[in-house]
Amino acid sequence: IDDSNFETRPPVVTIMGHVDHGKTSLLDKIRESKVAAGEAGGITQHISSYTVEKNGEKITFVDTPGHAAFSAMRARGASVTDVVIIVIAADDGVKPQTEEVISHAKASGCPIIVAVNKIDKEAANIDMVKSQMAERDMTPVDWGGDIEFIGVSAKTGAGIDDLLENILLQSEILELKADPTAKAKATVVESLLEKGRGPVATIIVENGTLRVGDNIVCDTTYGRVKAITNDMGKPVKELGLSETGSVLGLSDVPAAGAIMVAQDSDKEAKDIATKRAEHERAKELSKSTKVSLE
Ligand code: GTP
Ligand code: NA
Ligand code: MG
Repeated sequence: IDDSNFETRPPVVTIMGHVDHGKTSLLDKIRESKVAAGEAGGITQHISSYTVEKNGEKITFVDTPGHAAFSAMRARGASVTDVVIIVIAADDGVKPQTEEVISHAKASGCPIIVAVNKIDKEAANIDMVKSQMAERDMTPVDWGGDIEFIGVSAKTGAGIDDLLENILLQSEILELKADPTAKAKATVVESLLEKGRGPVATIIVENGTLRVGDNIVCDTTYGRVKAITNDMGKPVKELGLSETGSVLGLSDVPAAGAIMVAQDSDKEAKDIATKRAEHERAKELSKSTKVSLE
């Protein structure tokens, strides 16, 4: 590999935890936004991602739903990340989806930080959370283990600077590097068909820089990047290393989890996508032929 153009890239940090333990609220506090207040039933139902800048350092966050029904999204969230933050409400402790995200986090092999949230509450009990986690092989640093536990409050903002510092520290240790001059490669974290806009893919750039006008292929779909909006909905011309945004211009809605790659020409992008689509169709056909022969 030619690594002469490699640069340090920002970390991608996935936030996971049991329903209502305060994942979205924590991100709102970090971003000074109000996403949680606008959610139907107060429940997150999709993955969303945000690139924030704190003291000149960028961090891309991935927010995941905590509701039991959204296990696949949690698994997907854990697969795109560099660092996992497990959020546990200090007044509620380890719950079923906390257990689930512990196993996603362990499987990801990423460094894990535990954010013990809602420490502003009367019933908050950080030691209870620590001992519940220690029983699950997630022993806090101050108890002789290797997991950092940080008490935070999405309500008051307590501990959030600590949390951000810790993320940047973990990210430094990881020595995350990529090549901003390479052909863009990105992961689709969410996708949908939007009325009036067509297929929209929310992506995180893994390598290279994605620009308006790039020819892209994404699984069996392709197109030319017509527009990019950042996580605030503002149009931008490009997305750099680890940055997230939404891309318009694909001919079809790609599956979440798909990889998007920039190509030299629209012909190339079309050829790759068409071949893949043919391959898929052939597979389907052979499946149905087998069934009818049985
Ligand atoms: P899902 O995405 O649906 O799993 O929930 P979530 O983990 O994103 O939690 P959310 O941010 O929706 O917060 C759930 C509730 O807890 C809301 O009513 C928040 O206002 C409240 N809450 C979140 N963080 C804190 C906190 O630090 N202190 C207090 N007192 N309340 C909090
Ligand atoms: Na919620
Ligand atoms: Mg949420």
